[in-house]
Amino acid sequence: MELVRGDYRPPLEYVKGIPIIKYFAESLGPLQSWQPRPDDLLISTYPKSGTTWVSEILDMIYHGGDLEKCHRDSILTRVPFIEFKVPGCPTGLEVLEDTPPPRLLKTHLPLALLPKGLLDQKVKVVYVARNAKDVAVSFYHFYRMAKVHPDPGTWESFLDKFMAGEVSYGSWYQHVQEWWELGRTHPVLYLFYEDIQENPKREIQKILEFVGRPLSEETVDHIVQHTSFKEMKKNPMANYTTLPVEVMDHSVSAFMRKGVTGDWKNVFTVAQNERFDAHYAKKMAGCNLNFRSEL
Ligand code: A3P
Repeated sequence: MELVRGDYRPPLEYVKGIPIIKYFAESLGPLQSWQPRPDDLLISTYPKSGTTWVSEILDMIYHGGDLEKCHRDSILTRVPFIEFKVPGCPTGLEVLEDTPPPRLLKTHLPLALLPKGLLDQKVKVVYVARNAKDVAVSFYHFYRMAKVHPDPGTWESFLDKFMAGEVSYGSWYQHVQEWWELGRTHPVLYLFYEDIQENPKREIQKILEFVGRPLSEETVDHIVQHTSFKEMKKNPMANYTTLPVEVMDHSVSAFMRKGVTGDWKNVFTVAQNERFDAHYAKKMAGCNLNFRSEL
């Protein structure tokens, strides 16, 4: 298959009513019959919520904090992205086949599109959620640099699409709520980006307990240091610069962009913020999830 050329930005495809990157939509058929292993661990997030950060943390945990082992390959190979499919690159399923257990897996799929085997096998899930305003801003810049997405248009029009759930992977509101609800019947550790930023050591301890892999305090400190934004931004095995420029163009916007909470304040106008808050209150009514948009 040929590499994505120049500015070709295919429109999203709707699968079961959910908009998805065209190429990723093509991977969903084969994925439905894929059988995960019960000792797999799934990292699930709505896009731009700290997936790469938690993936790096978990890979370090699985390798006892050994930096050299975590430099063995790019994050896309170390933590196979199950629905990944881009012309010219190995698919998520192909990468999975070459990954020895115990495996870390990544997905952004909403539950309606998730391979059934993951639920049947009771595969443990680490879910990371991030406040909607920072996700919207991060997603906008990601659309600009990752050309598997349609053109994002203006920030104003992108924000409208985000609120309407007409962006890749659909509604943020539905995603964070349905994975939260899943925790009633399935082993899910539900984390927040803002909590990790506030106290990474505390959140890593939660992960260690959940995955049943105790580590010394010294090793945890080492993991905190290595997975800081500053370190990950300059680590080619974590910052996606190993992907062809036709797939991600870091000169447009770096994948490791700002890594902060509250950047939305530099982007939202007062009017946009008011409109967003009113819409948010309706979409999240009756849900007991509390997000922090500033620290
Ligand atoms: P920004 O665009 O706001 O900077 P994902 O991995 O889910 O695609 O999320 C990407 C977002 O997480 C980007 O946000 C990125 O900068 C941020 N990020 C990645 N690694 C991080 C780290 N170690 N600490 C804080 N934020 C990080």
